[in-house]
Amino acid sequence: MIVPHTTDTPAPTPTVRKAVVPAAGLGTRFLPATKATPKEMLPVVDKPAIQYVVEEAAAAGLDDVLMVTGRHKRAIEDHFDHAFELEQALAAKGDAVRLDAVRDPARLANIHHIRQGEPLGLGHAVLCARRHVGDQPFAVLLGDDLIDPRETLLSTMLDVRERYAGSVIALMEVPREQIHLYGCAAVEPTEEEGVVRVTGLVEKPSPETAPSTYAVIGRYVLDPAVFDVLDRTAPGRGGEIQLTDALQTLATDGTVHGVVFEGLRYDTGDKADYLRTVVRLACARPDLGPEFTTWLKGFVAELEGREGAGRGRGLAA
Ligand code: G1P
Repeated sequence: MIVPHTTDTPAPTPTVRKAVVPAAGLGTRFLPATKATPKEMLPVVDKPAIQYVVEEAAAAGLDDVLMVTGRHKRAIEDHFDHAFELEQALAAKGDAVRLDAVRDPARLANIHHIRQGEPLGLGHAVLCARRHVGDQPFAVLLGDDLIDPRETLLSTMLDVRERYAGSVIALMEVPREQIHLYGCAAVEPTEEEGVVRVTGLVEKPSPETAPSTYAVIGRYVLDPAVFDVLDRTAPGRGGEIQLTDALQTLATDGTVHGVVFEGLRYDTGDKADYLRTVVRLACARPDLGPEFTTWLKGFVAELEGREGAGRGRGLAA
């Protein structure tokens, strides 16, 4: 039965269905690997990093994903499309496992692509999604932040949006000396453990001026009100239109909440963290994990042996 909406009954909260994935960065931290390949396509074990992000969105029930790309759009587009010749060749060989692996990306969600045109910042990338998103709340997932597939952060954020309305950001406590790498949130507690009210936001503050050690990590559930604010947000840090600045404006109205995440998150845009991500996720894989873990333990023992020998020599000297 459809209950008509009247002024006496509150409008039902729309369910979030759309995800926006900004993927226009140049990936300069990974040159030369990213000279001709988008950084989002770098493999983490045997899938490109961006596939984990789309899988995360799909696992949280989001069936519409908009990629906001820049140059190198082609490889991302092809990855989430069908590959007929490859599929036919694998089908002819009867290789069902690889056939599934090739087909999976295109089956995860309805994937759309638009171009950002000019690299004017994350806020601008989100604004580019306005026409596609329309007047509905939506999620934003940043490709460099990989949340461990065993975590349920995005679902928790969608649940918080249903209950608190407004916008919801993901926060993680980091050592103060690292806060300059992130957006930083001033917060106050709510009645609920793990959910905070965001009272202010600042993009990449110095450790001395940061209002807290709560870093914004790359998951957002945004109210469509953010588009009007972004539209009038002037370029901020680095001369770019910052999503953090638009959220700061919304936070002053008390409509931004934060979910404090304590789980596993990897920054695949950072070389050392990228390597850690590959090792951790390889160890967790049922097909590769046991053999790889055995090798890894041996390798660590070898390293420790060398270190021990080094120390021994040091003592003797
Ligand atoms: C962006 C955001 C920043 C956020 C970070 C999370 O920065 O602007 O607020 O903390 O993502 O990864 P970027 O890392 O793209 O410079």
